Amino acid sequence: MLIAGNWKMNLMPHEGMMLTHEICMGISDIPSHVDILICPPFTHLAQCSLIIENNESPLLIGAQNCHDSDEGAFTGEISARMLASMGIDYVILGHSERRSLFNESNDFIARKCLAAFKAGLTPIVCIGETLEQRNQGIVNQVIQEQVLSILHHEQIVSSIPAHDIVFAYEPVWAIGTGLAASPEQAEDVHAFIRMQLEEKLGDHASMIDVIYGGSVKPENAKDYFLQPNIDGALIGGASLKAESFLAIAAQA
Ligand code: PGA
Repeated sequence: MLIAGNWKMNLMPHEGMMLTHEICMGISDIPSHVDILICPPFTHLAQCSLIIENNESPLLIGAQNCHDSDEGAFTGEISARMLASMGIDYVILGHSERRSLFNESNDFIARKCLAAFKAGLTPIVCIGETLEQRNQGIVNQVIQEQVLSILHHEQIVSSIPAHDIVFAYEPVWAIGTGLAASPEQAEDVHAFIRMQLEEKLGDHASMIDVIYGGSVKPENAKDYFLQPNIDGALIGGASLKAESFLAIAAQA
């Protein structure tokens, strides 16, 4: 089980440090089969990492994006290699906000995924349909396209047994809206994602975490975790307070 907090562009550094400290303090109550991950803004990563290290905490830390090149003339960008050199474990890729606000394509996300593997980071690849696509009845088609854009990459597929990868199903209409997908709606899509993974990766598909994101809260988390193909959650709003974040993790 993976419980991941996506802080997005929230919290000033001192607030992020306080939150990291509070999570480190509360994590000992969480069962050990649950991995807990925070993904602060780039500017907070070094300080938050230090807090984790000083507390000798099992808390994991990730970034919210990276570039697909190792280095070069890409003003404002940060490479996977740079993140790895800071002791970062994970990187969120292709979040729907990046796909829609920054025009990230499936192909660009696949290249970032490869860069993450090369650097030794675990990518969390976000996929999900818009409300319009759901209403058109093309959820599976959209999801399949997004999953296969990653799994059509021979280099990615051949790297997977040796490298962890996580898929996060986040229906766009459920993100930050309070309109969470029902556990059954989410499970349907997760089962479909698992099938795509099985077709490409065989038995290894069962080793890959497929987590749900979109308005997960302490009140609804448990119903997701009871679903056979839901292996955790990617949490936005409710990850900004230690109390709600840990309350979700406690149910995993
Ligand atoms: P939310 O965000 O939990 O605030 O809906 C989830 C996400 O964007 O990852």
